[in-house]
Amino acid sequence: MSHELGRLEDLPQDYRDDLKNLNLVPLWPSLRAVLPPGVPTRATQAVHWPYATLKPLLLKAGELTPIEKAERRVLVLANPGHGLENMKASPAIYLGMQLLLPGEWAPSHRHTPNAVRMIVEGEGAYTTVDGEKCPMRRGDLILTPTGLWHEHGHDGSDPVVWLDVLDLPLVYYMEASYHINGSRQTVKQGSGDRAWTRAGVVPTQVFRRSDKRYPMLRYPWSATRAALVEMAANEPQLDCVQVTYVNPETGDDAENILGFYALMLKPGQTLALPARSPAQVFHLIEGAVDVSTCGKRFELVEADTCCAPGYEPVTLSNRSADQPAFVFIADESPLHRKLGVYEVR
Ligand SMILES: [Fe+2]
Repeated sequence: MSHELGRLEDLPQDYRDDLKNLNLVPLWPSLRAVLPPGVPTRATQAVHWPYATLKPLLLKAGELTPIEKAERRVLVLANPGHGLENMKASPAIYLGMQLLLPGEWAPSHRHTPNAVRMIVEGEGAYTTVDGEKCPMRRGDLILTPTGLWHEHGHDGSDPVVWLDVLDLPLVYYMEASYHINGSRQTVKQGSGDRAWTRAGVVPTQVFRRSDKRYPMLRYPWSATRAALVEMAANEPQLDCVQVTYVNPETGDDAENILGFYALMLKPGQTLALPARSPAQVFHLIEGAVDVSTCGKRFELVEADTCCAPGYEPVTLSNRSADQPAFVFIADESPLHRKLGVYEVR
């Protein structure tokens, strides 16, 4: 049972001044704020970023700011609950919509935060990660994990847009965020998504398995979508048709801090997701989906993105009665699990 605790104003001013001068703070006036009863205090708001309203402004940035002046031409999807200037979608998730125009080059760098890119539209761009040239197509997920060199190029004829998902807010909070610029990478032969083509078998060299932490850097949407469709056909009564992006050698989460998933909603399906501790982000790859959380309902169309705070249930509804829908999800699960605070309510 919570009861009222003493307030700062209840203390004599001279006592408060003495504490302040000695860099001391009384806990009890703030105790309920940092340890509220039952449910954490969350600054994260449920927010919807429609692609149709964002895209013209992103294209405008392409006119206003040359790539050399931007390095990465990005509009950040910022959660007003955290203050727009803090560039957070949630405590640990940064979201940015990035534009690369034909012929442009975003030079090689590496940094401590982990990133992934979910390709939103356009053809002909590529990301070179750790010497592996990864083509960027709609729905592909490309990892640029902590410490790996990456750069973006574009040989196509139309603008390419992708959604960056980083754990930047957390790494910045830990005072561990920095980058290093590098020179153009030499492209190596081969790609992880071809070497790790099928679940159940992994490349082996004279009975030795790969010990790469990130064996797969590109997860082609064609393969992920096919897996979901196959799962749904295999088990028609299955409620939740979902896959997790993992390291195919170990089954661990693809990256260390954020988790990534793809989910298929059958025609007309409504799926109630339980309240879980991590905040999460939904990006609609294909179809028409309503996302309901925190008393709000977002009508997502293709390429729309929204977020939900942790500890809140979320309901996903496919608005189409005859077409499936496909959603990309990012959340803070790996972080919560490592910290021992992961909860499903
Ligand atoms: Fe980067």
